[in-house]
Amino acid sequence: MSISTIVLCAGEGTRMKGVKSKMLHELCGRPLCFYALEAALAVSSDDVVAVLGSRGDQVQREIKKFFGDKVKIVWQTEQLGTAHAVQQALLQWQSSSSTILVSYGDAPLMTAEALGNLHKTQIESQAKIALLSSVAENPFGYGRIVRDDVGDICGIVEENDCNQDQKLVKVINAGMYAFEAEFLRTAINQIPKSKKGEFYLTDIVAAAYGSNGNQPAVVAIDSAWQDIAGVNDRKQLAEARKVMQGRILDSWMRLGVTVIDPRSTSVDYGVALEEDVILESGVCLRGTTKIGRGAQIGAGSVLFDTHIGVDAVVLPYCVCEEAQVDAQAKIGPFSHLRKNAHVESHAHVGNFVELKNTTLKTGAKANHLAYLGDAEIGANSNVGAGTITCNYDGFAKHKTVLGDGVFIGSNATLVAPISIGDGAYIGAGSTIVQEVPKNALAIGRGRQETKLDYADGLKRRLKSRLLSKAK
Ligand code: UD1
Ligand code: CA
Repeated sequence: MSISTIVLCAGEGTRMKGVKSKMLHELCGRPLCFYALEAALAVSSDDVVAVLGSRGDQVQREIKKFFGDKVKIVWQTEQLGTAHAVQQALLQWQSSSSTILVSYGDAPLMTAEALGNLHKTQIESQAKIALLSSVAENPFGYGRIVRDDVGDICGIVEENDCNQDQKLVKVINAGMYAFEAEFLRTAINQIPKSKKGEFYLTDIVAAAYGSNGNQPAVVAIDSAWQDIAGVNDRKQLAEARKVMQGRILDSWMRLGVTVIDPRSTSVDYGVALEEDVILESGVCLRGTTKIGRGAQIGAGSVLFDTHIGVDAVVLPYCVCEEAQVDAQAKIGPFSHLRKNAHVESHAHVGNFVELKNTTLKTGAKANHLAYLGDAEIGANSNVGAGTITCNYDGFAKHKTVLGDGVFIGSNATLVAPISIGDGAYIGAGSTIVQEVPKNALAIGRGRQETKLDYADGLKRRLKSRLLSKAK
């Protein structure tokens, strides 16, 4: 027994509106068509073939990115319907599989298990077609499954072609089929044009009806609505996201992650979490983010492609992009870690601190209101409130290097390129433009002048000036 799967991804996706291919709308960190292809790869012993057409170049690029050459590509240059798409696949690709599964790229919730069952049912029942059906609360837009007097499936009627009675049928076609390959190869060429001028794959059911001797030619397995729902518009995309997000969070919770409020938490498909991670309300983990054991991610924090170490603490409302926070480090609230920010273990980054391409070595601290860009902050150094690295001269970026145990007073301006040696001390409010050797004190600001017993006289003079002006 051998299985190949054809996944239809060529449609125009008109109901999505907008410029992007429907197949590339994002769902929990992956393009929509990713999920159907992944399920197909999991059950197919032979090939997985994606049929591309409308805006296919974009789709092909994404498929290559995620699946390399594991998914074969065929082209449907004109969108003449789902049967036409399958026909194009069979023309452009040679297969010796005994079963051919067909699924739609816009059905992301279907699992590999459901596809596997479909195959099993087709083999065991010796039917020409096994298909998934479901009972829909609102069947609008789906093909309705029609049975004859003895209950055998005799056709699928698309929404546009339904009469009043058929519109009331709630049993719908999910759009996933297991075909006996020989039957499919022949029958696909015998499908008539629909009223709409397209060739519907669903009309293959009527073609199969009665063609299997005493056995039913078509069998259906009922499946849960959440496993088959298709995405035709952005409302359905949001509904699918809810289900997919629920699945992702459920599986992490089963593996020992605490999710305080699953309704407000979003975790992408590619994210990796370890036991005892705590995700507070409104956390959003995207891309390739990884969170180590016992780490806590505070409310409202958004992490893109970021690695958080074991037992690290991210306080509420941090935004991190391609950053790394090592074990037992602490950031937030309101920290912004940009690309290549690296906060080593036991280091602290506080509120309104922005790091870009900067490493804070073990135990270093930048607790309040600072911008550190293209910098290396030595172990156990302390960066005072309001400190700014001037890393950009309008043309090029320059580096700031602090040794270990450096103390930077508040509101210092460090004009790069600059280096400050181990244990050095920078006075508050300084603008530092020259190298500071280790253990030195550097102060770069105007000297303070204090005039004793001066203030009362000054106030008198200012007041009388004001009065003479008023006269
Ligand atoms: C289709 C089914 C319907 C089923 C529903 C389940 C048909 C005729 N109808 O309707 O019975 O209830 O799915 O979700 O099959 N595609 C191509 N080339 C084309 C046209 C479509 O590759 O020429 C692809 C689309 O990209 C999409 C899939 O086939 O992934 C289904 O097409 P779509 O237009 O969304 O069909 P539905 O109206 O949803
Ligand atoms: Ca659809």
